[in-house]
Amino acid sequence: MNCGVGMDGQEISREEALSRRGFKHACHILLHAETSAKLFRKIPLKHIVLMQMRFDGLLGFPGGLVNPSEETLESGLSRELQEEVGVAVPVTVDDYVYSRLPPSSPNLITHFYTKKMTEAELLELEKAAVGNAADHGLEVMGMVRVPLYTLKNGGGLSWFLSHSFISNSRAQLLGSLRRLGLVSEGVLDDALRQGDQMRH
Ligand code: GTP
Ligand code: MN
Ligand code: MN
Ligand code: MN
Ligand code: MN
Ligand code: MN
Repeated sequence: MNCGVGMDGQEISREEALSRRGFKHACHILLHAETSAKLFRKIPLKHIVLMQMRFDGLLGFPGGLVNPSEETLESGLSRELQEEVGVAVPVTVDDYVYSRLPPSSPNLITHFYTKKMTEAELLELEKAAVGNAADHGLEVMGMVRVPLYTLKNGGGLSWFLSHSFISNSRAQLLGSLRRLGLVSEGVLDDALRQGDQMRH
């Protein structure tokens, strides 16, 4: 379950994914925002990236199973966001990243999205996740921000990555951090090197 970057699963086009019979479809999203906040008044955080602690103890992204015969992938994802974070964040095909066949779930296609928000919108969403989300404390134990830095003692992103992740969400996180430039290559390389040593 603790999937590395190489465990992301085969990529499949959106069109092919939707034409496959007998597959379930899941849509999840990485929500992020820019921030000028500094940790310990010293380390500029630069970006906020949200994940969630799931009911099963694994980290993952908000989102869930979508039924393409009743809803579009994007409207289904917005519905899941209403349930899990208390805001039906509008999602469009512009936010779509890729679809994959995760090796851990043979009959599932995972569709992945990223969306940039303002810091104010993201803060409102974090409040709604506790105050308004039907799934709070049930399917979702809480939203978490991903530490996007390396501390002197090695803590930060690398220790975060040493937790266990659902399906290919760890690879979705790492790929997004790189693609969207949310961390420097140095931080990413350090985190992956240390993470490999810590994996048990
Ligand atoms: P129910 O309402 O109980 O059906 O849950 P859900 O619709 O919220 O579904 P969930 O979010 O658990 O996602 C469905 C399946 O997608 C999971 O069983 C995992 O296999 C997979 N999954 C869950 N989270 C993620 C994620 O962040 N990324 C990826 N790639 N897959 C995920
Ligand atoms: Mn759900
Ligand atoms: Mn879910
Ligand atoms: Mn579920
Ligand atoms: Mn659901
Ligand atoms: Mn549900």
